[in-house]
Order: sequence, then structure tokens, then C-alpha cells
Amino acid sequence: MTEAALLTVRNLRVVYPGDDGDFRAVRNLSFKLGRERLGIVGESGSGKSTTGRAIMGLIAKPGRVEADELRLGDTDLTNLDEDGFRKLRGKRIAMVLQDPKYSLDPVMKVGKQIAETHRHHFGSDAKTARNAALEMLHAVHIRNPELVYNQYAHQVSGGMGQRIMIAMMLIAGPDILIADEPTSALDVSVQAQVLAIMDEMVRSRGMGLILISHNLHLVSTFLAALPQLGDKRDPLPQLQRDPAWLVDLPAAVGADR
Ligand SMILES: Nc1ncnc2c1ncn2[C@@H]1O[C@H](COP(=O)(O)OP(=O)(O)OP(=O)(O)O)[C@@H](O)[C@H]1O
Ligand SMILES: [Mg+2]
Repeated sequence: MTEAALLTVRNLRVVYPGDDGDFRAVRNLSFKLGRERLGIVGESGSGKSTTGRAIMGLIAKPGRVEADELRLGDTDLTNLDEDGFRKLRGKRIAMVLQDPKYSLDPVMKVGKQIAETHRHHFGSDAKTARNAALEMLHAVHIRNPELVYNQYAHQVSGGMGQRIMIAMMLIAGPDILIADEPTSALDVSVQAQVLAIMDEMVRSRGMGLILISHNLHLVSTFLAALPQLGDKRDPLPQLQRDPAWLVDLPAAVGADR
């Protein structure tokens, strides 16, 4: 890639200490992300969400994150403190989680939550923030933004909830969106809609997207449009399976309760 990478991950390791010793949830993961879409696929428990959380600075102690290189553009994430991460989250990198029920505040109108995110990042006045929120709701194809703005999380459908989350995550204009199983709680036709909207948003803003899923079919459908004529791409990275991982497996299963 000629363009500087948005995100560089080299030998990322995440360790959760436990009573039976260290549990190594992520072992030497490396990739680079440009203004492109990257799928991370793996079976349950393989460390996908842990990877996303590590990049966002959301691994709680005593969990440990180590890497030979972990860089967001020019920013070194390997020794960034919580204050530093807080400045990056939302503004430069955002993450959409599987179930909006856990990410949306149940007692604040959904539109207000998007508006508050805008105010937090841009220090905008109430009216500007509200208008920006309505515009984002419109951009994620919500037909009646004014109505939905005033609803609470429990009043919106799953697919709409995910679109609201996408709106909220993109309102501060991050360079990268990490989507962790963003549609697994939805039925198939709604999944396709939400993925298409996310794809459209990410492309039109020239962002990088990391789509995390245990569902290879879903990711391959999503990525099927690649490569495109005229797009330059790196060769696809190959999966490495270190035989040593298998030796550790019983301990891993033990720690997986
Ligand atoms: N806070 C934690 N403390 C200890 N172990 C953890 C913690 N969080 C995750 N793990 C373990 O790390 C491993 C990877 O978990 P992770 O949630 O990243 O998997 P995943 O690939 O996202 O799985 P899924 O497809 O089910 O979402 C699992 O074995 C899990 O039990
Ligand atoms: Mg997960």
C-alpha cells in the first residue's frame, strides 16, 4: 500500500492472568488497515472481540496488552493511558457492538444520545448537535428521523438499533470503524440491510472498516465486491497456525468456562 496505514498491528498479544496461569487470548496477530474493509473471522473464543477491545484500549486489568507495534496513524497505542485513549475513541476510532441493548442508554432518547456524542466531541450547541444527529439518522436510512430521535432504546427494532449505533459511532467522524458481530442478533434480511448501510457509510467517508464475525459466509458476502478494478491492493495475508497453539489447547479450554 502506498498510502500510510490507518492502523498498524504487529504481533499483538493479549493475556488474561488467571488462577491456572496466564491465558493467552490473542497471540501475535499482525495486520495493517488502510481505507479499506478487513474481515476478522474465527470460531467462538478465538480472541476476535479481545482484539477489537485491545485496539480501543478497553482491556480491563488484570488483562494485559502487548505488541511490537500498535499504531493508529502516527499515534503509538502501546503506552497510551486511559486519558489518551478517551481522546481517540469516537473521534478517530469507533466500535459497534453486537447488541445495541447493551450500548444504548435505556433512559435517554436515542436521538439525544447521538446529539450528546456530537456535543462531546465538537462542543456544539444543542441545536447544532440535534441537527447533526437528525442528519446522521437520515444517513443511515431511517425514514422518519424526527420520530425516531424521540424514541427510547426499547422502542426500536434490532435492525434500527444497529443503525442508530452506527450513526452514533460515525457522528464524530472517525477514520476507522470496528464492527464486532454487528448483525448477529438480527434476522438475515435485516443483516444484509445493516451491512449495506455500514458499507455505504464507510465507503462514502473513505474510512477503514474492520468487520469481526464468526460467520465466514457473512463476511465473504460483505467482501464479495472486492477486489475492484482500479483499486490497488496488497496481496492477501495468509492464515498462520502455529503448532504450539494446539499444545496449549487443554489449558485454553479450561480457562474458557
Ligand atoms: N476479561 C476476561 N478475562 C479472562 N478471559 C477472558 C476475558 N475476556 C475474554 N476472555 C477469554 O478470551 C478468549 C477470547 O475471547 P473473545 O471474547 O475475544 O472471543 P471471540 O473470538 O470474540 O468469541 P465469540 O465469537 O464467541 O464472540 C475466550 O476464551 C474468553 O473466555
Ligand atoms: Mg466476540
